[in-house]
Amino acid sequence: MGIKILGAGKYLPPLIATNDDFAKIVDTNDEWISKRTGIKERHMANGELNFQMGAKAAKEAIEKSCVPLDEIDMIIGTTVSQDTYTPSMSSLVGMALGIENAVCFDINAACSGFVYALDMANKYLSFGEYKNILIVSSELLTRLVDYTDRSSCILFGDGAGAVVVTNSDNKFSAKLRGVPSGAYKLVAKVNEPSNAFKTQSCDWGNDEVNNFKDGYMYMDGHEIYKFATSTMPQVVQEALEKANMNIDDIDLLIPHQANIRIIQTAVKNLKFSMDKCYVCIDKTGNMSSACIPIAIAMAIDEGRINRGDIICLTGFGAGLTSGAAVFEF
Ligand code: ACO
Repeated sequence: MGIKILGAGKYLPPLIATNDDFAKIVDTNDEWISKRTGIKERHMANGELNFQMGAKAAKEAIEKSCVPLDEIDMIIGTTVSQDTYTPSMSSLVGMALGIENAVCFDINAACSGFVYALDMANKYLSFGEYKNILIVSSELLTRLVDYTDRSSCILFGDGAGAVVVTNSDNKFSAKLRGVPSGAYKLVAKVNEPSNAFKTQSCDWGNDEVNNFKDGYMYMDGHEIYKFATSTMPQVVQEALEKANMNIDDIDLLIPHQANIRIIQTAVKNLKFSMDKCYVCIDKTGNMSSACIPIAIAMAIDEGRINRGDIICLTGFGAGLTSGAAVFEF
């Protein structure tokens, strides 16, 4: 049993910040950022809420899929940067679209979120209880960024991507991985509200994490880099093995867009070709779980994905998480 992507959509907010714009606020320059990350510019929400970006991407995905709104029976949201603790981002997206009846929930698997959600959708669809699942991945990462930290603030942008999937006989295989012992390698703590009755501050069991400012993202860039370049080739190979395929069967590889050097190293380790690897990081930066569905929508629009093609998605991120999915488009 497999899935078919019926339609994909994306939303990138119109406000763009270039590397030269960052040079005005921190000690950096276009040459360093371009060479070390591959990023030239990123989109930033400017008044849009996360769920509103998600709803715009979802609307386009639903229109392209030609599925009537009342036949979307589940919405899986993926985000690390939601507007509300509750309700879920997917409920807010469903409300914005005018959907009356759909099971809605969010998952947080950081930048691997879309791959996790696709695997989950495949499993729900294969039982036959649900017919059309909307996956919407929306990230407003600029709300988590410390704009005084030059090593991380230049990396992230905002955006949303969405797909509508249904059941099919097409091949689908996925391999997910989690390494919770690395959970403190990338952390954004919630904002603890002040409380007149509280006398003690929280103890995270780790001095470094205790000192992180609430609400901001902190990461061990070198450790994440090492994890990414080793795990992505592994999960891709394992997903291919499960599908009885090999690397040469892949028509287009769509990796998480975190750093062009991570992508190039993973592609080299896979003995694959950059010509068959989709890259948009120069225009978007890292948008966590939204990167992969945005790249899918862009690749379809550019004619780089056609029906019958074998597509491989792979992501890694906080958690630590990673995953790969291989399927026929
Ligand atoms: N501009 C200029 N110089 C800088 C900047 C900057 N923006 N940032 C750091 N530097 C300096 C450092 O201070 C250091 O200077 P020093 O040598 O004088 O000490 C020098 O550049 C080298 O710094 P490194 O940290 O070694 O640079 P590196 O090449 O490792 O790149 C980076 C850093 C881009 C963060 C890289 O480690 C990386 O991409 N890691 C993975 C991060 C990632 O993918 N995170 C997202 C995970 S996904 C998720 O879940 C959100």
